[in-house]
Amino acid sequence: MVESKGWNWEIVNNEEKEIWKNPSIESFYLLNRWKSQDKKDFLDLGCGLGRHSILFGKNGFNVSSFDISKEAINKTKEWAEEENLEFDYKIGDMLKLPYDNEQFDCIYCRNVISHTDTEGIRKIIKELDRVMKYGGECYLTLGSKDSWGFKQESWPLIDENTRLRMEEGPEYELPHFYTDYDLTKELFSCFKIIDIYQVIDYYEKQDITTKSYHYHILIQKTKD
Ligand SMILES: C[S@@+](CC[C@H](N)C(=O)[O-])C[C@H]1O[C@@H](n2cnc3c(N)ncnc32)[C@H](O)[C@@H]1O
Repeated sequence: MVESKGWNWEIVNNEEKEIWKNPSIESFYLLNRWKSQDKKDFLDLGCGLGRHSILFGKNGFNVSSFDISKEAINKTKEWAEEENLEFDYKIGDMLKLPYDNEQFDCIYCRNVISHTDTEGIRKIIKELDRVMKYGGECYLTLGSKDSWGFKQESWPLIDENTRLRMEEGPEYELPHFYTDYDLTKELFSCFKIIDIYQVIDYYEKQDITTKSYHYHILIQKTKD
């Protein structure tokens, strides 16, 4: 299995950091959904700078913030303290989550678990299953094989679904696992799949448009 490696948040400039402090669109939908289901124990898996920990913390959830990057956890903690919020913080690797069985009602995991290879993904999915309560839900995203990144043939292919990203920046040399619809269905077959949809993001930089495609997945742990 490829070695885990987090984002290098130290090299992200302040302007870009601001983008990572604004909660993603779907977090508001999930906040509403999980509040109405009386969910309480929330895991922000791969929390980055903490934008979703803060959103859910401000709305009364018991927040656990987790990331492999010390800088990410430090920034989340600084921000929570400014807001007078108390979270549980842990630095670690998602391949082995430092939490009890059935600890969480809901898990938010946006653009995180794809930072491994195929063997790693299968391991993480088992960990998600272990730490989720019955009836608990997890939202996560995975890069799609339609993405520009998966088509970069000069980037090392680690296994049939995974490339090492060789673009300068915070994700340099980080593994990226890519999926398609059938593989996604197979990977999450032990859960009830509530939603799968694919989103295209367009990035415009100096007249060049690149597209990235992600699967957005919402799953529930059921008894049967
Ligand atoms: C693209 S950022 C997303 C941050 C956050 N989910 C958000 O939406 O703002 C990915 C995060 O996953 C973390 N990460 C990558 N590999 C990890 C691993 N093996 N275990 C835990 N966190 C990891 C990175 O350090 C980084 O903070």
